[in-house]
Amino acid sequence: MGKEIACQLSKFNCNLALFARRDNELQKISEEIIKNNKKIKCIFKKCDVKNLMDIKNAVDFAYKNFRRIDIAILTAGILIPNPIQTFDSKIIRDTIDINFMGSVYFTEFLMKIMKSQKSGTIVVTSTLPDRRGVPGWGAYGASKAAVSWFFESLRSEAKQRYNINIITLKPGSVKTPMIENYHRRGAISVEKAAEIIIKGIIKDKEVIQFPLGQLLMTRTMDLFPIFVYDKLDIDLQKGDGYPQVKDY
Ligand SMILES: NC(=O)c1ccc[n+]([C@@H]2O[C@H](COP(=O)([O-])OP(=O)(O)OC[C@H]3O[C@@H](n4cnc5c(N)ncnc54)[C@H](OP(=O)(O)O)[C@@H]3O)[C@@H](O)[C@H]2O)c1
Repeated sequence: MGKEIACQLSKFNCNLALFARRDNELQKISEEIIKNNKKIKCIFKKCDVKNLMDIKNAVDFAYKNFRRIDIAILTAGILIPNPIQTFDSKIIRDTIDINFMGSVYFTEFLMKIMKSQKSGTIVVTSTLPDRRGVPGWGAYGASKAAVSWFFESLRSEAKQRYNINIITLKPGSVKTPMIENYHRRGAISVEKAAEIIIKGIIKDKEVIQFPLGQLLMTRTMDLFPIFVYDKLDIDLQKGDGYPQVKDY
């Protein structure tokens, strides 16, 4: 999604700074963007969001090049199943580190710059089902629930004190490499998702959640009483493609 958002933003003549671990991929994307719009800069740097210093260097790099940061879109994330049969706290820690703490670290450094600018927008990425547990996906869900909770707690104060907008993205299923092994029904294209995200940012929305059908279904399930919720079919909730693990 990050790649597609960057490509679409380049058409608005935004200068861009791209970060991820595979800098060879970043180089390709950056070259493609510059080839299609020679009026903008598109710089990139390797960054592992598990590493606080990488994030400090990423923010410094963007600020030194552009002398301001208007919008930061934080989409780095991993989705790893955590089957009950092989309960493994390392999966849970890694997922929290990347999906939640990565955005917290970025926010620490971005806030300093945005406070001095007296403006800025930080977009963080949660997920549509961020309110109830899902069998087999607890690590991912917990990391995203933390994003939703933490950044909602920050939102009003960041706006009122420093004029910093915090936007939480809550996508349903989007056809990206992340879900290619899990055949999620009703997934929308990455192009459509990026379009919705950019429109939402332009409108200064607090939360950007989509697509509508999945939003309605998720929020309806949020209302199920516990005794009903706990009786839902476990395999159905895990979804197609969830790894089959032997019981020991
Ligand atoms: N696709 C969906 O259905 C869906 C639904 C709800 C929410 N989301 C969320 O949307 C965001 C984007 O996901 P996507 O679907 O675009 O997945 P994706 O295609 O797998 O992209 C994830 C990106 O995160 C980067 N990344 C992973 N670990 C990183 C790390 N330690 N440091 C820096 N970058 C890292 C990866 O780049 P490198 O490997 O090069 O580092 C990759 O480009 C994620 O936060 C995801 O949880 C996705």
